[in-house]
Amino acid sequence: MGNILRATFFAAVLSPFTAWVCLEATKHRNASGPYMSWPTRWYILLAIGTVILQISLIERLRYHLRARAKGCLSAPCYPHKDPFLGLDLLIPVIRAFKENTVIYNFQRRFEKYGHTHWSIAFTDWTINTEDPENIKAILTNIDDFPIAGPRLHTVLPLLGSESIFASNGQAWHNARSMLRPTFVRDQIADLECFDRHISNLLRAIPRDGSTFDMQKLLLDMTMDSSTDFMLGYSTNLLIKPLPEARKFIQAFEYVSATMGRRGSTGTAFLPSRELDDQIKIIQSFVESYMVKALADGRKHARERKYVFLDAMADSGASMEYIRDQVLSIIIAGRDTTAGAISSTIYFLARHPEVVAKVREEVLELNEKNPSWEQLKNMSYLSNTIKEGSVNIAPLNSPPSHV
Ligand code: HEM
Repeated sequence: MGNILRATFFAAVLSPFTAWVCLEATKHRNASGPYMSWPTRWYILLAIGTVILQISLIERLRYHLRARAKGCLSAPCYPHKDPFLGLDLLIPVIRAFKENTVIYNFQRRFEKYGHTHWSIAFTDWTINTEDPENIKAILTNIDDFPIAGPRLHTVLPLLGSESIFASNGQAWHNARSMLRPTFVRDQIADLECFDRHISNLLRAIPRDGSTFDMQKLLLDMTMDSSTDFMLGYSTNLLIKPLPEARKFIQAFEYVSATMGRRGSTGTAFLPSRELDDQIKIIQSFVESYMVKALADGRKHARERKYVFLDAMADSGASMEYIRDQVLSIIIAGRDTTAGAISSTIYFLARHPEVVAKVREEVLELNEKNPSWEQLKNMSYLSNTIKEGSVNIAPLNSPPSHV
């Protein structure tokens, strides 16, 4: 109640001032003719500042009222030095993105200011949460937590409005039912595709004791397997990438990093020509793979039982729609999986006793590739990967709007 009263009080007190300063700015602007005097400029600046502040207060009040209507508990607020635009928080977050320390930045903030807390970015009030119950509620109630605001602005330019990561309501249900056959047991239990790429990864690891970047190899491996899984046609980054695959991966890395930064700093609404150009490279690469994969698929029977593209092409969906869904899954499975494996390896390197136990479980396979059932029953390995992912989250979602 305190939060609502405070926000209402400030919004109400500020309203007449906002109205007055906007009127004054308009009057001065109309009277000043083509050359604007300094007092006019100051009035206009003051009017812009006051309107921003007013929007921020109304936004905050709207959130508090909604939270109260839903019976939510109140959450602490980040102690902003700049309570209007939140620049005091945004600048360190942008710096953390540049230094690749954004996960630590978020972790420290959650430890210090609460597992669920408010913050502001460019007048946008955001609830930040790492509370598993909150995350479960958000991800399982698409109607209560639609994809909108900064979250939508982040993914829209790349994935379009009908992708599973950008749509709500019926469009989301449609995308989901189109993608569902890709994830049925028969499909994901087809381990040959993954085995091929894991073998390429193992071959790419230097044997002469030299230093190498495991995360880079893992990212190449997950891109190779994601493209193979979705298109039946791999980028082959670990073995012999074509020049267009290299160009694609550079664009993909630029776009993922930029989208992540813009999403987390509330700047996704700003136009960016560089981002648009890189997105075009990604989209045309996926389209060219789709054309190749579809042509191949029609020439000879595929090795795999089900390839998403064939089913999509038969459904009569447009090329653009198919591309957006394919790209969504490639994005969904690439950095997340590479991140989860990287974190697991990071922790394994520091816990030899866990390595010994994982090894014991793996040796039970007698040097044979595991079947799907065997993989599912390797509980120590599975829990090790889960622990690794809990300690360093493989994904931080850009904000959703309520
Ligand atoms: C360790 C690996 C992974 C992690 C940590 C992870 C995490 C997540 C999270 C947190 C979401 C919700 C995102 C949001 O709405 O903000 C999500 C959604 C999704 N993920 Fe994953 N993911 C992983 C691997 C994969 C893989 C390998 C695929 C597919 C090949 C995949 C496909 C999807 C899809 C399709 C959705 C959207 C579901 C929907 O809206 O109904 N994910 N994932």
